[in-house]
This record gives sequence, structure tokens and C-alpha cells, in this order.
Amino acid sequence: AIDIAKLREQTGYITIDSGYKNTGATKSAITFLDGEEGILRYRGYPIEQLAEKSTFLEVAYLLIYGKLPTQAELDNFAGQITKHTLVHEDVRKIFDGFPSAAHPMAILSSLICSLTAFYPESVSPDLSKEEIDLNVIRLMAKISTIAAWTYKNNMGHPLNYPRNDLDYCSNFLYMMFSFPTEKYAINPTVVSALNKLLILHADHEQNCSTSTVRLVGSANASLYGSVSAGINALWGPLHGGANQEVLEMLQAIQKDGGNTQKWVDKAKDKEDSFRLMGFGHRVYKNFDPRAKIIKKAADEVLSALGIDDPLLTIAQELEQAALTDDYFIKRNIYPNVDFYSGIIYRAIGIPTEMFTVMFALGRLPGWIAQWKEMRENKEPIGRPRQVYTGELERDYVGIDQRS
Ligand code: ACO
Repeated sequence: AIDIAKLREQTGYITIDSGYKNTGATKSAITFLDGEEGILRYRGYPIEQLAEKSTFLEVAYLLIYGKLPTQAELDNFAGQITKHTLVHEDVRKIFDGFPSAAHPMAILSSLICSLTAFYPESVSPDLSKEEIDLNVIRLMAKISTIAAWTYKNNMGHPLNYPRNDLDYCSNFLYMMFSFPTEKYAINPTVVSALNKLLILHADHEQNCSTSTVRLVGSANASLYGSVSAGINALWGPLHGGANQEVLEMLQAIQKDGGNTQKWVDKAKDKEDSFRLMGFGHRVYKNFDPRAKIIKKAADEVLSALGIDDPLLTIAQELEQAALTDDYFIKRNIYPNVDFYSGIIYRAIGIPTEMFTVMFALGRLPGWIAQWKEMRENKEPIGRPRQVYTGELERDYVGIDQRS
């Protein structure tokens, strides 16, 4: 007979917190976030100041190394990244194996993981500080080339090799949009908006993809393998896939005649699983501080580029609904960063299916910083428990005796 009391004794007391809404998985000195007050700081610096005054690479340095770099440190960091933007020609060949309609996130996660094969020493659990720094530089450098090539590959366009004379964001835009027959003209407004977008996405403490990077990394998996797992988590529509879904939702509303109220009602209908994409946030329950900055950047880009986009009118109507409708007010549901980022990406010519790739490009320094912190703190392997709810014990029944 089964001794249930003994079994329960062995299991002990387990805390159940589905979705980890109030469970801390680690101590971290990287990002401070106060969802009630709408505060986000990287290493103590307010996101508003960084978005206004800094560049993406400077913020990457800050997140990864814990301090704002001196000019010499920044020059060295940026110079090293520029030096490593080329990928092995065999990485290039892997593109040929993917169907031309493959989602860019599938290619991105595969190719980032493939770096483990090109740099096999990266899997060692005993890397020196210098070896870790080299992997950091390689990853920061090569992800922009790989990301731009996923787009070129999908379009059937010739691939552009990186240019060492351009800064990080300009080089990415060049690799995305230049043709051998027509050179892409770098626009400073677009470069500045891209810097802002990447900065705003650079870290967000223990979100789903970052927790994935730390959990995978806690098994001593390589930086490339851990980040590749994070990319897959980010691809989920409830996480990084949301900005693509925002644009698709706006297009669907437009196709449906532009009646935003109908779609707002649909989102409120509890019989309908539809939710307004780009609205609500697990942590920010009053407002998303990033959304404020990005809304301003979206207005600037659209006016600087002279874009009059009917999807923006739909977006503004939805934003109004969220701010004035009791359903959204009572539940503290506000437009989040994804709501506006999709509009900027669209304005600067980045296609919808690349939106999550752009998020990954921005989030990379955060993933790296969190992976590095976890390693430096020698955190134990992550291994959550469960409360078992299945059959306690039963005897095997032969197939001829089963009903
Ligand atoms: N549209 C309509 N109703 C919503 C929405 C929405 N976008 N978001 C939440 N609600 C409602 C829920 O139906 C629920 O209603 P109820 O109390 O009547 O049951 C209530 O608000 C609370 O919702 P939860 O899902 O419990 O909130 P949670 O904090 O767990 O979820 C989440 C946050 C997943 C972001 C949710 O708001 C959502 O699905 N939003 C749409 C997807 C999205 O934009 N994701 C991007 C997240 S941000 C990022 O990853 C950078």
C-alpha cells in the first residue's frame, strides 16, 4: 500500500507562483525597475537620460561592465566590435539551407547558436576574463551582420558586407538597405531614432527571455547557446513578438474598415481571446516609461521623414480608447513600448517580420550582462520545483488488458 503521508513528507513544502509573479530568481545590480512608479534605470542611470544623451554602444558598455566608459574605453569597445563584424564565410553558407520564407527569428537563433560551433572554446566553463570579453565582442559585432543578412536572405537580395567606417547603427542600416546599384543614404534622424530604440530595449531585468538566458547559462552553457535560447523566448507573441503583432493588428483593423471601437469592444469581450496587442504590461501597472520616450521619438521620425501613415491614426484612436475607457483604466492597461516601436520601425523601412529581430539586437547587451553577472556570482544551476498533481502510484497494465 502507498504511504501517502510519507510521500507528502518527502515532497516537503513547495511555493507555487505560476508565472513567477512575485518570486525573485536572483540578486542583480544591473537594472532597477519600479512598475508602480514607472521607473527604469540601467546601473542607476535613468532611462530618460540615457535615451536622450547616450548611444547604444555606450549603454551596452554600461550594462555589461557596470560603469559609463571613458572616451578611450568606448573607442576601444566600439573599435573591437567594428573589427569583429565579419562572420565566417561558412556561417554565410548556412543561410542557403533555410527556406526563403523562413522567419528571420528562426534564422537568427540558429545562427547565433552556430557560433558555438565556430568558436568551440566558448563552451568551456572556465573561461578567463579576456576570453569572456572576446566572446562578448564577437556576439555584439556579429549579431548585427547576421540580423541584416536574415532580411537580405528573405528578400533574395545580395548580402552587404559590414563597413568599418560607419558607427554601429549606421552600419546596420547600410547592411539592411544598401544595394550594389543604389547606395543607402544614411539619415541622422533615423540613426538617432534607432539608437534610442535599441537603448530602450537594452535590458529589462528578469523578463522571460533574460530569465531564459540566465537559466540556460546556469548549466554552464556557452554565451552563444544561452543567448540563442533567449532569442527563442523573445520570439513568443506575449513577449518580443508583440511589436510585430501590433502592426498586424493595426493592418487588420484598417482592412476591416478602420472601426477601432469594434476592436476595442472585441478586446473587452471575455468570450473572445483577442487582446489589444501592445497594451498592458506584467510589471508596469501605471505607465511604461519607455513608451513615453518612444512616443516622442515616433512623432519626431514621422515628421522628419514627412510620413503620413493611416495606421498611425488607428494607433492614436486605440491609444485614446485605452486612456479613456473604464475597462482599461480599471485594469491599469496602457500602451507599452511595443506599441510605438512598431510604428518607428515601419517608418524607417524595417519590415514587420524583422521587428522581433530588432528587439533582439537591442536586448543583447542586457542578456550578455545578465549571463556575465550570473557567471561571476557563481550562481547555482536553476532547478525549479513543482507540486505533483498526477496519479500517486499504479501498476503497469499489459496492452491486452487496457480498456
Ligand atoms: N487587451 C485587453 N485586455 C487585457 C489586455 C489587453 N492587451 N491585457 C490585459 N488585459 C486584461 C486581462 O484580460 C485581465 O482581465 P480580467 O481581470 O477581467 O481577467 C486583466 O487585464 C489582467 O490581465 P493579465 O493577463 O492577468 O495581466 P498580466 O500582467 O498577467 O499580463 C500581458 C500582461 C501578458 C502583457 C497582457 O497585458 C497582454 O497579453 N498584453 C498583450 C500582449 C502584449 O502587448 N505583450 C507585450 C508585453 S511587453 C514586452 O514583452 C516588452
